[in-house]
Amino acid sequence: MRVLITGGAGFIGSNFVRRAVREHPDWQITVLDKLTYAGNLANLADVRDRITFQRGDIANRDDVQKAMDGAQVVVNFAAETHVDRSILWADDFVKTDVLGTFVLLETARQVKLERFIQISTDEVYGSIESGSFTEESPLNPRNPYSASKAGADRLAFAYFTTHNVPVIITRCSNNFGPYQYPEKFIPLFITNALEGKSLPLYGDGRNVRDWIHVDDHCAAVDFLIANGQLGETYNIAGGNEVENIEIARAIVKQLGKPESLIQLVKDRPGHDRRYSLDAGKLARLGWTPRRDFAGLLRDTIAWYTSHESWWRPIKSGEFRQYYAQQYASRV
Ligand code: NAD
Ligand code: DAU
Repeated sequence: MRVLITGGAGFIGSNFVRRAVREHPDWQITVLDKLTYAGNLANLADVRDRITFQRGDIANRDDVQKAMDGAQVVVNFAAETHVDRSILWADDFVKTDVLGTFVLLETARQVKLERFIQISTDEVYGSIESGSFTEESPLNPRNPYSASKAGADRLAFAYFTTHNVPVIITRCSNNFGPYQYPEKFIPLFITNALEGKSLPLYGDGRNVRDWIHVDDHCAAVDFLIANGQLGETYNIAGGNEVENIEIARAIVKQLGKPESLIQLVKDRPGHDRRYSLDAGKLARLGWTPRRDFAGLLRDTIAWYTSHESWWRPIKSGEFRQYYAQQYASRV
């Protein structure tokens, strides 16, 4: 099978490529990635000779036509993904997440695809105080990132109903694991702690996210390529709802650092309080995640501890300027 994976040099995309190479040796994989600040060929180093890599932009028709030529399955991971950056400057979010998805869907109309997997996010539902969102819940995105993702999500659905593009939409909760860019909460806190820097916890530190290991997310997407119904949307959730402060404490404890490294800072504007998904639809189809959050978090902390050669160059590059700008207004 010929599979196009967009955003395959990012965090989840590269873990998905690694899984695909391992589990599906018959797949011919093309990765289309713009290599933005978040894309990194080092994430694919161990599978580089098993895939075709094309540097390009999902919002560029020529790049997409070339990459999608002959493809049977498209998995669209490519996106601008960091909420804090979307608050500073949303331009690239609209261009990539909305316009880029549009270009992919338009091109898909001309190709005999079997599946177009649109990787959406639980953030499209917005925040929920109690209970959990089902796939039927209304969308209520509250920041420029999630609004752009909601636009892409609904465009994908519209191309299914209007143009018969064989779309399946996934909405996953917060991922953690190896190769996550260290601007995101868990790798930022682990690597800051390793560097002896403070851990900037937003607001009162009691916002809740439902954490899923990236390998589980990738397994769920793989399962849906084979078993998902066209035109359907599936929530993917870890079932691990945890307050941010608890994760911060677990990180410093495992690394033998003082809790005084954790510093409450000014909150993120429009900070969603709690995400919670009902993943019953996917469970009824036959897929559930692993449940050992504490163990998987321990493994993740250990991975960053033993992979300084991966994250140190990142933190000394573009990241430094971003971090200085981001935290100047918070600390
Ligand atoms: P990431 O930021 O680590 O990687 C994004 C990748 O997309 C990078 O390799 C980047 O170079 C590439 N990219 C960006 N713009 C592009 C463009 N215009 N053309 C081609 N490539 C481009 O992101 P991630 O955390 O791996 O997220 C992957 C997908 O999963 C995104 O669609 C995101 O919305 C979704 N998602 C993420 C999470 C999470 O917790 N990280 C949860 C649910 C859904
Ligand atoms: O829910 C899925 C989404 O999860 C994905 O769609 C996004 O691409 C991904 O970035 C993530 O969004 P969040 O905003 O939930 O993740 P982030 O890692 O930025 O923050 C997680 C929580 O930690 C959130 O409540 C904000 C808080 N936080 C984050 C950072 C970066 C802090 O307290 N301090 C920080 O420095």
